[in-house]
Amino acid sequence: MIKSIIAAISQNGVIGSKNGIPWNYPDDWKHFRKTTRGYPIIAGRKTYESFQVHPLPGRLNIILSHNTNYQPPGEALVFNDLQLAFDRAEKEGKGKVFILGGAEIYHQTIPICDEMILTFIPKQINGDAFFPHWEPNSWKEISFVRKGELSFKTYRRK
Ligand SMILES: NC(=O)c1ccc[n+]([C@@H]2O[C@H](COP(=O)([O-])OP(=O)(O)OC[C@H]3O[C@@H](n4cnc5c(N)ncnc54)[C@H](OP(=O)(O)O)[C@@H]3O)[C@@H](O)[C@H]2O)c1
Repeated sequence: MIKSIIAAISQNGVIGSKNGIPWNYPDDWKHFRKTTRGYPIIAGRKTYESFQVHPLPGRLNIILSHNTNYQPPGEALVFNDLQLAFDRAEKEGKGKVFILGGAEIYHQTIPICDEMILTFIPKQINGDAFFPHWEPNSWKEISFVRKGELSFKTYRRK
């Protein structure tokens, strides 16, 4: 199963602010929905809570929390172990799982994921959640699409 990170990142590395996303780019939302629909997704508890809709429709929503009693809003599965979350996603038989963040989850999964689908926002934006450092030399860019000011890039691990 391909483990694929999907994220949108500002020029200064910001991905979030006050447990939300500090921008609104309809083209990025469309790209996110189209890319992830039909596949299982894994999100950290804070990111899941930040969604306006629970669960994200048309996808198995898997939430990570250390709290084994956590009751998520909406219909979602909760795991307290990343590997168990991946095992459950694999059972869907879709061949791919999308890792939706946030910063804590990206930090743990960049070293083990196969693919990163990143939207680059060419602006300096204030925030308190950042995409972790990643080593560009370890990744091959396999697609690049520009739409307006946004750049959509897909990377595969070399
Ligand atoms: N721009 C983007 O593409 C994008 C995408 C996603 C999120 N975001 C932003 O990122 C920010 C949230 O990121 P964050 O780092 O604060 O939070 P997060 O990664 O969404 O969630 C962190 C929580 O996940 C749980 N967790 C983490 N690792 C775990 C593990 N190994 N096993 C079990 N549970 C685990 C813990 O929940 P408990 O506390 O319940 O134990 C932890 O507090 C928000 O601002 C959000 O909007 C941006």
